[in-house]
Amino acid sequence: MSLYFCRNFITHINKKLKIMSKVTVVGAGNVGATCANVLAFNEVADEVVMLDVKEGVSEGKAMDMMQTAQLLGFDTTIVGCTNDYEKTANSDVIVITSGIPRKPGMTREELIGVNAGIVKTVAENALKYSPNAILVVISNPMDTMTYLALKSLGLPKNRVIGMGGALDSSRFKYFLSQALGCNANEVEGMVIGGHGDTTMIPLARLATYKGQPVSTLLSEEKLNEVVASTMVGGATLTKLLGTSAWYAPGAAGAYVVESIIHNQKKMIPCSVLLEGEYGESDLCIGVPVILGKNGIEKIVALELTADEKEKFAASAKAVHGTNAALKEVGAL
Ligand code: 2OP
Repeated sequence: MSLYFCRNFITHINKKLKIMSKVTVVGAGNVGATCANVLAFNEVADEVVMLDVKEGVSEGKAMDMMQTAQLLGFDTTIVGCTNDYEKTANSDVIVITSGIPRKPGMTREELIGVNAGIVKTVAENALKYSPNAILVVISNPMDTMTYLALKSLGLPKNRVIGMGGALDSSRFKYFLSQALGCNANEVEGMVIGGHGDTTMIPLARLATYKGQPVSTLLSEEKLNEVVASTMVGGATLTKLLGTSAWYAPGAAGAYVVESIIHNQKKMIPCSVLLEGEYGESDLCIGVPVILGKNGIEKIVALELTADEKEKFAASAKAVHGTNAALKEVGAL
């Protein structure tokens, strides 16, 4: 039986049984539209709703995407709407991409003043129509926006997830594959810590290529270069593009959503609330988690070295510092 037939057959059975899945993506800019497109192309959900404040933009992008359905062979329905939260009702997952992206030379943290108000408002509106939804936060500064959504909505911690680690880990695997001259799909690697140019921690010690530690395959100098390129991965693209990246951020959001909707139980580094794990509490920061139908099914406790622990503590301190600004801007 072909994969295509299997996929259509399962979709057909689910529709007969009315097991419909729905994902809303708030913000139909570059990142949101890419995320919606990947969700549809991979048939992660039966319905994907894109909502944006700009009149006509999400409707136009949704129609454009739907006109690829026959060409690409997907069955997902994509709906666009201008600020009409009713259309997002009963979503299983809500992805928040709203807010302004960074410009060359800006840090993600500098966006807090504008993005905090936007993220809080859209999260509240979306939750009104989908009270049981799981939130996936992409807006920057991502760790702080995840914390803001969690605190202001009072949701259980398993239902609020920041996607930064999924993106940073994918970039890490890309740079490792470039250095090794191999296929990125054959590389394992994780980035933990904050989603910031100086706060993320690519775990070079644990990275492998087909089971072989990359530290045995690359010189220390080369590995340091890979780590450095990963950390400024977003900034490098922002400089090249004049605005922040979207293909990998959008795809990383969809990857996180897929593990939740399909209950895949993948281990993905994500920004989640820590309550003592990794020696930290009262912040959202990247650590490996198991993602399934309940959102965060488990926080995975990695055995870190003294040096990694020190870096994690410094990263947490920086994220706490950014979170403190939420009070200054009146968001919390
Ligand atoms: C990035 O790193 C958008 O934060 C995102 O590209």
